[in-house]
Amino acid sequence: RSPGWAAFVPDEVIVVQLYSRDVGDGTPLVLLHAFPLSSAMWLAQREALAERFRVVTPDLRGFGGSPLGTAEPSVDVMADDVAALLDAKGIDRAVVGGLSMGGYVTLAFCRRHPDRVLGAVLADTKATADTETARADRLRIAERLEADKTVDVLLEGLLPRLVGPTTMRQRALIYGRVRGLVQSAPASAAAWAQRAMAARPDALETLAGLHAPALIVHGAEDEITTEDDARAMAEALPNAELTLVPRSGHLPPVEQPQLFNEAVGEFVAALGRTIR
Ligand code: MLT
Repeated sequence: RSPGWAAFVPDEVIVVQLYSRDVGDGTPLVLLHAFPLSSAMWLAQREALAERFRVVTPDLRGFGGSPLGTAEPSVDVMADDVAALLDAKGIDRAVVGGLSMGGYVTLAFCRRHPDRVLGAVLADTKATADTETARADRLRIAERLEADKTVDVLLEGLLPRLVGPTTMRQRALIYGRVRGLVQSAPASAAAWAQRAMAARPDALETLAGLHAPALIVHGAEDEITTEDDARAMAEALPNAELTLVPRSGHLPPVEQPQLFNEAVGEFVAALGRTIR
């Protein structure tokens, strides 16, 4: 980018064009992936749910096929990227859902674009901001990612906690798949996303003001977010239901896809009936 052109860039969020996989017809269901994965994590949802809905799974900026762009790290920027993607696809309103980091982006989307939310799915995520310790940890990890230029720090610290003990014991192939996804994350995108998550605000007020129905999903063996986090979101929301997924850790759509798809499928189908 030439300095002359940069001088004309307005001081506002500059969205990037997200790569997304978009399959099926009907009520649009947008699913936002966890950190540091990509839209590849939603394979089983695209396969099963696209028989009934239009399933749109973007790669958040820097991950998968999407460029990182030049904006300062922020979940608001990520949410605006998703809104721009919906504009480009001619989708006015959608059921927007996300897991963990994707949930933080969903919460930012609900705050910034509430009129576009037909319903929200919040899986293994939380509405509270980071504690000081958690924020400091993220910034330390971001620095290490930038220094190493590899995701080794995530393979050591985060990967073993991404799936639950049942998956670890009984389904080694799933663990291998998640490992592959973590390994393919660019270190620069992972560092940017850590800084974005560290800066995210508390979202309990956003939930209290959300009029659209919400589905909270939580893996019973999740060690990264807790059942208390899930219950706090359900209690803050005016209109929410909570589903606990047994034998799953942090990634129910990958670890127990059938149970996850049943819960989300029922939720979106019920919304689809009310908007017709
Ligand atoms: C994720 O799964 O997206 C991350 O673990 C979220 C986080 O670091 O808070």
